[in-house]
Amino acid sequence: MNAEHVPRRVVVTGGCGFIGANLVRHLLASDPGLHICNIDLLTYAGNRQSTQDLESGGRYEFVRADIADETAMEQVFSDWRPDTVIHLAAESHVDRSIDGPKVFVHTNVQGTLVLLEAARAVWKGRTDVRFHHVSTDEVFGSLADGGRFSETTPYDPSSPYSASKAASDHLVRAWGRTYGLPYTISNCSNNYGPYQVPEKLIPLVLLRALRGEPLPVYGTGANVRDWLYVEDHCEAIDRIVRFATSGTTWLVGGSNERTNLDMVRAVCAGLDRLQPKSDGTYDQLITFVADRPGHDFRYAIDASRLERDLGWRAKHSLETGLERTIRWYLDHRAWTDAIVSGDYRQERLGLIGGTDV
Ligand SMILES: NC(=O)c1ccc[n+]([C@@H]2O[C@H](COP(=O)([O-])OP(=O)(O)OC[C@H]3O[C@@H](n4cnc5c(N)ncnc54)[C@H](O)[C@@H]3O)[C@@H](O)[C@H]2O)c1
Repeated sequence: MNAEHVPRRVVVTGGCGFIGANLVRHLLASDPGLHICNIDLLTYAGNRQSTQDLESGGRYEFVRADIADETAMEQVFSDWRPDTVIHLAAESHVDRSIDGPKVFVHTNVQGTLVLLEAARAVWKGRTDVRFHHVSTDEVFGSLADGGRFSETTPYDPSSPYSASKAASDHLVRAWGRTYGLPYTISNCSNNYGPYQVPEKLIPLVLLRALRGEPLPVYGTGANVRDWLYVEDHCEAIDRIVRFATSGTTWLVGGSNERTNLDMVRAVCAGLDRLQPKSDGTYDQLITFVADRPGHDFRYAIDASRLERDLGWRAKHSLETGLERTIRWYLDHRAWTDAIVSGDYRQERLGLIGGTDV
């Protein structure tokens, strides 16, 4: 397969967040000719430590800035002259969007608009460039028991988070159609793996379990999510940026549907194996709490087009991915301690609290 696009100077936004940090590492390791400028505001979700070791290598630069700050973005883009933008910076937590939706519109909608305009200004109609927007399957709303999301599923977002991501997807497509900006979009299912801020399901359960604290699960824990190991998502983004035709959208998922309760139990079982408790098993800590408002019942992805057209395959099963994830958190307690000592302390966030991504 011939590359459509060869990224050389890449602006990554949100590279101090969970997926961004994994992606920056993946891109630098897989292509020695590639340079990255990471723009990140370092909100509660960003951690400079996740990529700090790369700062001395000469191929990675960190810029602390708000993607919604027009002047700052114009400056970075005109100084740095990227040929590729991979946009991940976002407010990403559904519970936080219920508590305070405004910042979600600021970052996810306004921030995307500012980046599109900054790219348009420096690219001036160039076609040998690419703007890749990283989005979520949550833009499609909730599925009943059958069926899966595909590239043609209509948008039907439920939360302020998913509505703001849907808006940003529409902006990117409109900049492609109206101004000819070369773009691709990916909508991915739930990720898990290293460097994830411990308010999301897997690291939250891990850290609470290790401290012997209750593991709160929303409702009956029957909500279904489709899980993907983050490294597989990074590989998908890399392939889409290089090989996909401009103007296309791709669904990314691992075909690993599990109920939230099953996921929590799987993390507990992994901990039982890798760090056994002296008394009993970790799943004894599970407690059920009132459900989240507007809680989508099920998400599931049909990634067959990505597999067929771009030759992507998830390399990790849920078992191998979870094992790697649990080991990583057990081996990186200094990283999690640094995050937990910030403004987020695994407190209840939504209107009615509990555990979900
Ligand atoms: N985590 C998932 O399961 C998942 C699934 C599908 C899609 N996504 C999408 O992938 C992207 C990354 O998700 P994540 O889980 O890594 O998020 P994250 O919350 O871990 O990281 C977000 C990063 O963006 C930065 N940021 C926030 N506001 C900013 C601003 N105004 N200016 C500059 N930087 C800012 C934060 O400091 C942080 O480093 C998001 O766009 C999200 O919607 C995530």
